[in-house]
Amino acid sequence: MKIFTTIPDLKSYVSTQKAENKTIGFVPTMGALHQGHLSLIKKAKQKNDIVIVSIFVNPTQFDNTEDLKKYPKTLENDTKLLESVSCNVLFSPSVKEMYSNNISSEKFDFDGLEHQMEGKFRDGHFNGVGTIVKTLFEIVTPNKAYFGQKDFQQLQIVKKMVEKHHLNVKIKGCDIFREDDGLAMSSRNTRLSKEHRNAAPFIYKTLKKVRKKFGTENATKVTEWVEKQFKKHPLLDLEYFTIADEKSLETIKNKESSKKYRAFIAVFAGNIRLIDNIQLKN
Ligand code: PAF
Repeated sequence: MKIFTTIPDLKSYVSTQKAENKTIGFVPTMGALHQGHLSLIKKAKQKNDIVIVSIFVNPTQFDNTEDLKKYPKTLENDTKLLESVSCNVLFSPSVKEMYSNNISSEKFDFDGLEHQMEGKFRDGHFNGVGTIVKTLFEIVTPNKAYFGQKDFQQLQIVKKMVEKHHLNVKIKGCDIFREDDGLAMSSRNTRLSKEHRNAAPFIYKTLKKVRKKFGTENATKVTEWVEKQFKKHPLLDLEYFTIADEKSLETIKNKESSKKYRAFIAVFAGNIRLIDNIQLKN
């Protein structure tokens, strides 16, 4: 596997590959890689000649400096994992390489997607994500880029950015990868205490019950039921639960048979914030 840390080195590699008509699949990450990331890389390997993975903990998408400081950094282990799935290139630039001396975000208009859910609770988060993903796309110039559906709002926002900025890249959303007990894989899971780790599968268990209930009950009733379940829970604090239209990400009022809906949740397990979602049948 080739490892690049500077933009010119990566660009020069990419242009050599493109001159040979090789297609490029790209998986942007913040490292602390787990099986969920590896599944994205395996998908990318099947459909592209070359797979490039970036590892960059992007400071502009953190609204909480403590969260940024404590974000797990495991570059040595990540490198081994990438080699184990025959990743072709790792791009792991420094903050200085990506932002020079101006660590700030561009302001984006994602047609309102950015004001829902995570946007309400993580100030400036999606401007930070938009800024870094756009910059990475400009450097890597991938044919296809792969994102997990655990961050479903991020996935929709990246698709919107590609559409609005006429970027020449296909965005592929991939299924959520889960631990055996149902907890959605996340780099943050490693920071959970034993107690909170044991409690966390309750999130997906609740989402599965939501999917059942949504068949017969309306969204408001289901939401009230979820809020009650978490009020009773001794270890998990609900930040939000909402049932939203997959396209607009707006909380639904009435079910329409032509639309697709998803339930979204954010929960604090101690001071670790976990998110998850599930597609619903209406
Ligand atoms: O999902 C992530 O890990 C990050 O938000 C991303 C897409 C790599 C941008 O920093």
